Amino acid sequence: MSEGRLLLSGSGRLCVAQPPGADVPTVLSPWALLVEGGRIDWVGAPGDAPPAETRVDLRTALVTPGLVDAHTHPVYAGDRSDETAARLAGQRYDGGGILRTVRATREASDDELAGLLDTRLLAALASGTTTIEAKSGYGLSLTDELRALRLLAAADTPMRPVRTFLGAHAVPEGMEAERFVDSVVEEILPQAASLADFCDVFCDSGFFSVEQAETILTAARGNGLALRLHAEQLARTGATELGIRLGATSVDHLEQLDAAGIAALAASSTVATLLPGPALLMGAGLPPARALLDAGATVAIASDANAGTFGSFSMPLVIGLASAVLGMQVGEALQAATAGGAASLGLGEVCGTIRPGLAADLVAWDAEHEGAFALHLGDVRPHRIWIGGSEVRTALAER
Ligand code: NIG
Ligand code: FE
Repeated sequence: MSEGRLLLSGSGRLCVAQPPGADVPTVLSPWALLVEGGRIDWVGAPGDAPPAETRVDLRTALVTPGLVDAHTHPVYAGDRSDETAARLAGQRYDGGGILRTVRATREASDDELAGLLDTRLLAALASGTTTIEAKSGYGLSLTDELRALRLLAAADTPMRPVRTFLGAHAVPEGMEAERFVDSVVEEILPQAASLADFCDVFCDSGFFSVEQAETILTAARGNGLALRLHAEQLARTGATELGIRLGATSVDHLEQLDAAGIAALAASSTVATLLPGPALLMGAGLPPARALLDAGATVAIASDANAGTFGSFSMPLVIGLASAVLGMQVGEALQAATAGGAASLGLGEVCGTIRPGLAADLVAWDAEHEGAFALHLGDVRPHRIWIGGSEVRTALAER
């Protein structure tokens, strides 16, 4: 028996999320799973299990792949909850609040900002996220954008990190849009590129036009970055078609997407990453989840945890919301929060599904059925978490 082989087993449900193409996860019950060298080595019935040095019986617990949060903005300071209250009282969102966060973020010291980031990453981990995408975008200057990306690089977390440069999140105060686009392309991107995996642009009405986004994303691709876009959140701009044309890995939001955009995404390999949290709080329409799934698009769901439109890093809540309000089956939502999220980050061959060769990123929940994500809406907690085959301790999982 080779050293370090870990056999997990249970009499409950193991949700083996499928690669994109399948709608809902396959469920094994009872089940066993062998972990070796940080990866899943074998999955099957307990009676067929290979020998292992360590065995853990997870009994009736629901076990899923670790959750993948493919869209977050965790590097910020300040508080804008007053804006949410005002918006719910009828005030229209124009995104202007982003500049308020930029001011507060620039004023925060490195230590303050690192502390805030740390707390948010811990909250994500404690709710079962094992892979997290995190964006810059509340700096909007060379110094402040690089600072955000460096803080992300230095963050001490066992989660699988994916970093995104979102320099073009808003036009900074006192600057003209075209001049800022030039500065992103010529000054910031070349230095940010080595600190990031992706480049993102807020391509929307009142922010960056499709033409400006194309200029930035083309330069980003030239600098070796993969591409993603904030698309069709406030208006139907054609950002989706731009993303598809440039080979973006994902287009995110999509509240205003129409039938032509749905068909274009379904015919492409670009993932549709839907963000039910901010969509609900903004009250300006929900993304067409059902139509995208029925058309055969690859769908991910993510939190979009940020300073101004949705603050929670709880992916169990996002799965519950997607099920309750986006017309997704719970299994589809779980699939979108695991395999879909991994596809949204170009990590489909790394994590997000339970199959031999992939990372052993697993969560055993304080639930017996995935329906709990809807029933308990945000209040489903990990009992135990493994990332790359190593068990991770979190304050909540200890309880
Ligand atoms: O994804 N849409 C653009 N960016 C964020 C909101 C940022 C903010 O309001 O601070 C989002 O929802
Ligand atoms: Fe966002």
